[in-house]
Amino acid sequence: GTPLTIAIDGPAASGKSSTAQWVAQKLGVRHVDSGAFYRAITYLALSTCGDPESWVADDVLANAPRISWRLTERSVLPLIDDIDQDTALRDAPVTRQVSRVAQMLAVREWVNQMVRSAGAAVDVVVDGRDIGTTVFPDAQLKVFLVADSWERARRRLVQRLRRRPTDAEIAEETEELVARDAKDATQSAPARDAITIDTTTVTQEEQVERIVALARATR
Ligand code: C5P
Repeated sequence: GTPLTIAIDGPAASGKSSTAQWVAQKLGVRHVDSGAFYRAITYLALSTCGDPESWVADDVLANAPRISWRLTERSVLPLIDDIDQDTALRDAPVTRQVSRVAQMLAVREWVNQMVRSAGAAVDVVVDGRDIGTTVFPDAQLKVFLVADSWERARRRLVQRLRRRPTDAEIAEETEELVARDAKDATQSAPARDAITIDTTTVTQEEQVERIVALARATR
């Protein structure tokens, strides 16, 4: 029958990726990180397109043929020139420019095509911004994760620094997150049939359990 598709959307650092990864693992299906495709095309633009201020979609997309994906046991893994560049895709220069690239309609269409081709091939849990609204409007389950910006900043820093961040560090990170949210705003509305989960005070394990239970109920 039709492959299973679960959409997990939400703002930056709402825990989408790790939640989606964990849900996918529990359900025995693949995780797709749609943001990784935006990051991959941005990563290539940084080395081929010159000053980011003057990037245009045609030049950015000239690198698209260098990006592909393959199935691993647990995920749909984006590749650049056939190599997994996951760590480089999380670097600050990529993170700083990715929203600019994600605003280009032609880039969005290209990412959507990549992600849809993966979802047509296998059962997937996809995380992103517009998965339940645009990429897979017919997904069997749509979840929208929200969390307080301070809490999102704190969690991201704990992940990055592997220690307890100071209030000053959290304040700075919060500012950056809020700025990225504003740039991403157009893509970040929940689908009408999405289930919103506020994760500010919920442990990741509880979120995952809740989504897995919802997924099992749809099957
Ligand atoms: O999820 P992640 O933070 O890796 O996404 C990086 C960027 O890619 C986001 O800030 C956003 O600009 C863009 N994005 C998007 N739509 C998606 C996934 C990511 O616009 N479905």
